[in-house]
Amino acid sequence: MGDALEEALPVPDGANGYDMAAELFMARRSRIGAETVRRWARTLPRGAAVLDLGCGHGVPVSEVLIEEGLALYAVDASRRLVEEFRRRFPGVPVACERVEDSDFFRRTFDGAVAVGLMFLLPEDTQRGLIKRIAGLLHPGGRFLFTAPELPCMWTDVLTGRPSRSLGREEYEAIAAGAGLILAGTARDEGENHYFDFVKPPGS
Ligand SMILES: C[S@@+](CC[C@H](N)C(=O)[O-])C[C@H]1O[C@@H](n2cnc3c(N)ncnc32)[C@H](O)[C@@H]1O
Repeated sequence: MGDALEEALPVPDGANGYDMAAELFMARRSRIGAETVRRWARTLPRGAAVLDLGCGHGVPVSEVLIEEGLALYAVDASRRLVEEFRRRFPGVPVACERVEDSDFFRRTFDGAVAVGLMFLLPEDTQRGLIKRIAGLLHPGGRFLFTAPELPCMWTDVLTGRPSRSLGREEYEAIAAGAGLILAGTARDEGENHYFDFVKPPGS
């Protein structure tokens, strides 16, 4: 009876629904945001170590970071998307794990990027992630992530799961507590909003 019940339960998806929706996501992901990420990448020296959080199958975000000569490391919780990432970018270190559980390659970074990830995470997880990334950045390092500027909640169209932005004021407060300051914001051609945080040089 216990076994039958377990079989009836949905398989847990540590990627907030993106493992189950992986094929659809890959079919639908456009190049929106690629040039915004490229401009950010060019603020870093070539060879700088950058972490792509929630990298998906790596197109276009990881691809752009690699094209710009950065030393890329990537993390994503979807087995299917990581499989496709590995096929496209053999030799790029990628960990198939949740950002909540990742040791982030046990190293430090010059930059980190999270496009389309932050708002999929519960509020406390977002806070924890910002703090952890701040701790892994070198002085002068940057953390670019997308989230709507105003606090809001909505349903992710692909997965039907809840998404939430804590909003600019709250993200700035969390980041300030972790030693990051807002260096700038951007908006891409798909109206996605980007926060560009920096760890002050000499901090
Ligand atoms: C909207 S997609 C964005 C993918 C990619 N950054 C892009 O711009 O195309 C969100 C990604 O976050 C991943 N993800 C969701 N929750 C995660 C978690 N807790 N830890 C790691 N990755 C997660 C999903 O598997 C998916 O690849």
